[in-house]
Amino acid sequence: MSEWTLSLTDAYKKRLEDIVRDDTERKGIYYHNEKKYWIIYDYAGCSELLNSHYVTKNRMLVPLTLFQEEKALIERFLSLINQSLIFRDDCKSDVVRLIHQNFRKLSCDEIIERSFLSVMDKKYLDEHDLISLNNTLASSLVGLEPDGHLSDHAYNVGMLFDGRVRGKEHFVDIARSFMAVFEACRGITSGTEPCNDIQASDRAIAYVAAHQTTMQLIVATLWAISHFRLSVNADNVREIVVEASRLYSPVLSVGRVMSQDLSFRGLNLRQGDRVMFYTALANFDPGFFDAPFQFIPGRNEKPLSFGTGMHMCIGMGIALSFASSFIARTSVNGSLRNVRITELAEGISALGASRFIIGMNCHELAED
Ligand code: HEM
Repeated sequence: MSEWTLSLTDAYKKRLEDIVRDDTERKGIYYHNEKKYWIIYDYAGCSELLNSHYVTKNRMLVPLTLFQEEKALIERFLSLINQSLIFRDDCKSDVVRLIHQNFRKLSCDEIIERSFLSVMDKKYLDEHDLISLNNTLASSLVGLEPDGHLSDHAYNVGMLFDGRVRGKEHFVDIARSFMAVFEACRGITSGTEPCNDIQASDRAIAYVAAHQTTMQLIVATLWAISHFRLSVNADNVREIVVEASRLYSPVLSVGRVMSQDLSFRGLNLRQGDRVMFYTALANFDPGFFDAPFQFIPGRNEKPLSFGTGMHMCIGMGIALSFASSFIARTSVNGSLRNVRITELAEGISALGASRFIIGMNCHELAED
């Protein structure tokens, strides 16, 4: 087995350098001429504008003339996704209550324990184990049965939000995947009533958003524990997870559109201009976080890893709590041996480990 391993810190540093390089005036904001959108990557800029009414979500507009036989599918897909909570600036969805209710009913220890069953033979966990664990979590949150096919569909739709669409065919495939998740969610009843379209698309979006993100947080935290040789106990586990979420947020950036003209730091942003907020990179802003690349659990400053403002993550508490339970379980009696990341999945808006080995000492696990 190769000893080759990737550093998460290096991967995030590189993304930061790539973004900062084009900011010749070091203003924390610049217009990207090729991509045709503004980039904002410092903490104050992201925080101020995402919490303001100057920005709104950019509904997905794709010319239907590009599609022939798939036109009806794409039209339905766009209509559902554009009505869903990620594009609504008005109200929150009943899916927020639903996922928290379902999370309270969930026996996290039991499903975490199940994912450790294979460790006794293999002596490690890999991406297959954690994808399956994350799928169980995501399904349970929205009220679906865990299902590998649906999980693959969710992963495919996630690529749309991560900026990893590989052309028109892939876009059509993503639309089909979304419809598969949507149909499964429509089968869930809301009380005695079946879900309406908006409820079903909100659930489909929540299912997609819950996929792999928590797994990424778990891997990043374990990598940090192994890399920085951290000692974990019941009192500091949550702070360690929060600090890992600051340094290695799987969501790199969130997109918006200007809802009105704004003069910002001497630059003129016009209504309709697109803006990419690099919230994960704002977590490295030295003007806000002391020694931003150092792992310092228990910082007072709040990271932007889960977004901020109107569309802030609805699963933040769940992800932090579930990841903390997993890390606590993994770290008992020093059972974590090492973490090797061998492949990264990178998109415009996402970064995370896609292949990894989490080495475990099994005798300590068996003692419990
Ligand atoms: C480590 C785990 C996670 C990270 C880093 C994360 C990150 C984020 C971020 C940055 C946003 C803001 C998007 C924006 O401003 O446009 C967001 C939104 C969202 N997240 Fe998460 N998330 C995580 C886990 C989850 C989980 C477990 C769920 C469970 C359902 C979830 C559901 C959502 C939903 C539905 C939204 C859209 C909210 C809206 O547009 O109003 N996320 N997430």
